[in-house]
Amino acid sequence: VKVAVLISGTGTNLAALIAYAREPASCVQIALVISNKSGDVEELRNAARAGIPTRVIDHKLYGSRSEFDRTIDSVLEEFSVELICLAGFMRILSSAFIRKWYGKILNICPSLLPSVKGGNAHKQVLQAGVKVTGCTVHFVLEEANTGAIILQEPVSVNTDDTEETLLERVKEAECRAFPIALQLVTSGVVRLGEYIYIIIYKAK
Ligand code: GRF
Repeated sequence: VKVAVLISGTGTNLAALIAYAREPASCVQIALVISNKSGDVEELRNAARAGIPTRVIDHKLYGSRSEFDRTIDSVLEEFSVELICLAGFMRILSSAFIRKWYGKILNICPSLLPSVKGGNAHKQVLQAGVKVTGCTVHFVLEEANTGAIILQEPVSVNTDDTEETLLERVKEAECRAFPIALQLVTSGVVRLGEYIYIIIYKAK
């Protein structure tokens, strides 16, 4: 399955997805990496070194969100992408884009949805005093953070945690959860709107 990974950050999740794609049992091919940041992203260079095509599509160079999204869409088509992983991609995608890719966009969120949403998840967690946080991989629907949840990994909140220590531990969980969620979707075990339970039985 040809997968594109879209990033805006340092690419830790990207690295985990690339490592997963290399496993012999994986049916994932990372066909393309797109970043909207033109700066120096080490993981983007690593992807390029690994022979994965990379593109920087800087949103600031486009007059509107839909123009930016249309550019992303045409690059995805150019590489015959079948599934999109938003791995810390900090741009909101337009409705037209999300409708076109219905059931084909996965996002990772550094909190347990739907309890904690938003960009400052770790701060909210510490302020609320909740004892468990985590990460969520979900399908992307038009309304942000409402898509069906594929997988969550919980992370305990310690009394001495800071936003930084939480960020670090939640990111470790993200790097485990995202590849598993991708596997569930690419293997057909999970699809948007339905769970397909596989019954394993021993032949006599
Ligand atoms: C991740 O924590 C992701 O959940 C959030 O942005 C961060 C991206 O980090 N939306 P990285 O680029 O994978 O290091």
